[in-house]
Amino acid sequence: MSAVLYSPLAQRLRETSSAMMRSQTSMRMLAPLPVGNADEQASSIGRIIDLPRIPDQRGNLTFVEAARHVPFDIKRVYYLYDVPGGASRGGHGHKALHQLIIAMAGSFDVILDDGADAEKFSLNRSYYGLYIPPMRWRELENFSSGAVCLVLASEVYEEDDYFRDYNEFLVAAAENAGSVK
Ligand code: TYD
Repeated sequence: MSAVLYSPLAQRLRETSSAMMRSQTSMRMLAPLPVGNADEQASSIGRIIDLPRIPDQRGNLTFVEAARHVPFDIKRVYYLYDVPGGASRGGHGHKALHQLIIAMAGSFDVILDDGADAEKFSLNRSYYGLYIPPMRWRELENFSSGAVCLVLASEVYEEDDYFRDYNEFLVAAAENAGSVK
């Protein structure tokens, strides 16, 4: 797993093409996390939770225990699969929803944006969970063939919880940032 940091402001990031964004990134390799713990890699925008691994010659096993590994009560599980090459998912923000995203198979990238900064997380191991707090715009892209994206969510589906418009999200994110100062 690696995280790629973007330094430009989110507005500029959104206006920049994907290819240009990649050319502007700098890559930071994260140290491997210990096995068997829910040790967390801190980031203000999102964080990787290292899920337990039980290695086995017959096939590896990872488990998720809600109270130990997931920083919210799980009310919903959904998954993305059969994603065609080049397709992107996401493209929205949530007002109050917490999520944990796991690449159950294959790999994909998740770009998280809090309205001021953005960060790219490459999910390429079945034992990494990406915790996404509320008020994050997200794009999921670069899906490998056969990738399966599992999402654990803190609430049932509620369209009113979505920001579908990026500019609306930016306004709300700025208001939030102002109110916590
Ligand atoms: P959406 O969250 O917009 O998917 P993505 O951001 O990955 O493109 O959801 C796509 C559609 O599926 C939308 O019409 C709402 C519906 N949906 C549900 O009915 N229940 C759910 O739990 C989810 C996640 C989506």
